[in-house]
Amino acid sequence: MLKLALAVVLLCFITSPALAFWTTCPEFPGARGPDRVDTPMCDSERCFAVRGEYFIANITLSSPDVHHELLSECIAFIAGIGIPLPMEPPHDNGCNAIFRNGVQQSCPTTPNNQYVWVVEQRIIEGIPAFQNTRVQYRIRDRGQLVGCVQFWATVV
Ligand SMILES: *[C@@H]1O[C@H](CO)[C@@H](O)[C@H](O)[C@H]1NC(C)=O
Repeated sequence: MLKLALAVVLLCFITSPALAFWTTCPEFPGARGPDRVDTPMCDSERCFAVRGEYFIANITLSSPDVHHELLSECIAFIAGIGIPLPMEPPHDNGCNAIFRNGVQQSCPTTPNNQYVWVVEQRIIEGIPAFQNTRVQYRIRDRGQLVGCVQFWATVV
């Protein structure tokens, strides 16, 4: 019994989102986080990216709501000041890059369906480099903030 309890605790610990590199955004409790994020660009502590190159990630997400757009904005808090990192279309709108079972979908989304958002976002050269900086990735649907994750990142 003790072994089983230990195994369950270990399993919860290993799969806990607390060990992921991202969290939801504390100042936006109504904004959802994704189900999971797969990216070779982050370890459990932070993400690392190079200006002029691509940030790639597969974001698995689901929502109880219908979404008509999934406009993303990325903000780096450099010395405490939020600096928006410009996103280039079409990848600034998740509706242009969501998949189910490998088949591309479009918006509006179907509630409670799980989608994989394939992110291929070029990091433009014009932004400042930063180290171990808090970054928020926010998702808006017609102006309303519906999703937000934050993580630590170094961009060179
Ligand atoms: C994202 O998913 C696609 C399709 O399943 C796969 O080919 C690709 O390797 C994945 N990329 C990452 C970063 O997980």
